[in-house]
Amino acid sequence: AFDVSKLLAKTGLTTFDPGFNSTAACASAITYIDGDAGILRYRGIPIEQLAERSSFLEVSYLLIYGELPTQAQLDTFTSNISRHTLLHEDLKNFFDGFPRDAHPMPVLSSAVSALSTFYQDSLDPFDDDAVELSTVRLMAKVFTIAAYAYKKSVGQPFLYPDNSLGLVENFLRLTFGFPAEPYEIDPVMAKAVDTLLILHADHEQNCSTSTVRLVGSSQANLFASISAGVNALFGPLHGGANQAVLEMLSRIKDVEDGNVDAFVDRVKNKEQGAKLMGFGHRVYKNYDPRAKIVKQNADEVLKALGVSDPLLDIAMKLEEKALADEYFIERKLYPNVDFYTGVIYRAMGFPTRMFTVLFALGRLPGWIAHWREMISDPQTKIGRPRQLYTGPTERNYVDMSDR
Ligand code: ACO
Repeated sequence: AFDVSKLLAKTGLTTFDPGFNSTAACASAITYIDGDAGILRYRGIPIEQLAERSSFLEVSYLLIYGELPTQAQLDTFTSNISRHTLLHEDLKNFFDGFPRDAHPMPVLSSAVSALSTFYQDSLDPFDDDAVELSTVRLMAKVFTIAAYAYKKSVGQPFLYPDNSLGLVENFLRLTFGFPAEPYEIDPVMAKAVDTLLILHADHEQNCSTSTVRLVGSSQANLFASISAGVNALFGPLHGGANQAVLEMLSRIKDVEDGNVDAFVDRVKNKEQGAKLMGFGHRVYKNYDPRAKIVKQNADEVLKALGVSDPLLDIAMKLEEKALADEYFIERKLYPNVDFYTGVIYRAMGFPTRMFTVLFALGRLPGWIAHWREMISDPQTKIGRPRQLYTGPTERNYVDMSDR
C-alpha cells in the first residue's frame, strides 16, 4: 500500500529488498551453493563426497579452519573437544529452572547464552586464544547441553560424558543411556547421525547464520552470537521445518486417513496458509542435493534399524504427487533437507521436539566458521540495514485529556 520507488527516491536509498532476495551482505569463502544446478560444496568439496567419506568432526575442522585436517590435526581437535564435554555443575542447575515440558530449543539457546557467564575469558572477540577455546568449548558442550535438554524433558537423570567415546557416540549415550546401565552404541545409528550432522553443517547465509553474523558484527562474543543463531533456527520456516514435517505427516496419517491428494489440494489452494512443509527453498530451485542423500539414507537406516514407518510411505507419496503437479513445478518447489530427516530421527527414537536441536548440532561448526570469518574480515562493519519509513509525517503530541 505504498509506492516503493517514491520512498526510495525520498530517502536517497537505492534498494528495497525485504527477505534479502538479491542482497549480498558479506563475502565468504566457506560454502558454495548453485541453487539452479543443485550444487553444495564446503570449502570447495562436494557435499556428496563429504557425506560418503568424511566424518562430522573432520567436516567441522574443514569449515572452521579452511582445509581438511591431517591425522595429527584431527586427533588434536578431537581430543581437545572430548576434554571439554563436561558442563559446569552450576550450569546443570540451570535446567531445573525450566518447566518440564519446555521445548528443548529455547533451553538450548538459553544454556548457550549462559556460557558467557561461566567463561568470561570469552568476552573479547579479538583475543585469538580465547576464540579458539570458545570454539572447542562450544563443539563439546552444546552436545552435552542438547542431551540434558532431552533428559530434562523426559524426567530422567543426567549422565556424565564418557570421553573415551566419540562426540556422536557420547551424545547418543548421554541422550538414551541411564547412569547405572551400560549403553550399547548402535553403529548404524551413530553413522546415520554423523551423516545428518555433515549435511546440516553449513549453508552459507541462511537465516540463522546471517543472524550469527549480524549479532557478531556488533562484536558480541561467540556464545552470544550462536545463542541468537539457535533462536533463529527455531522458527518453522527454517530449522523448525523438520518438526513441522513430521507433524504434517502424522496429521495426514491419523486425522486425514492418509489422503495425500486432498492435502496437496489444500496446499495448492493455500487453505489457511497450508504449506507442504519440507518443500521449497530460497536458493535451491532444483532438487536440494542434501535431500537426495537423506532420502537414500532414510530407506537404508530404517531397514538397518528394523523399523518400518508408514510416515515414510506418506512422505514418498507426497513427494511423487507434488513433483508431478503444475503448482510445484511452476514455483520450482522440491523437497529440502528437512523433508526426510524427521522420519530417520523418529526411527532412532528421538521425540519430534528434538529434531530442530539435532539440526542445531549439525549447524554449529558452520555458525562458528562464519563468526570467525566475519570477525577477522577487515571489511566487516556493524550490520545496520536501512528502512523505508511509512508512518505519519510530523504531528504534535496530544495531551491525555484531549485524546
Ligand atoms: N508449500 C506450498 N507452497 C509453497 C511452499 C511450500 N512449502 N514454499 C513456497 N511456496 C509457494 C509460495 O506460496 C509462493 O507462491 P505464490 O507465488 O503463489 O505466492 C511461491 O511458492 C514462492 O514462495 P516464497 O514463500 O516466496 O519463497 P521464499 O524463498 O520466500 O521461501 C521457504 C522459502 C521459506 C523455504 C518456503 O519455501 C517455505 O516456507 N517452505 C516450507 C518450510 C520449510 O520447509 N522450510 C525449510 C527451509 S530449508 C531449511 O531451513 C533447512
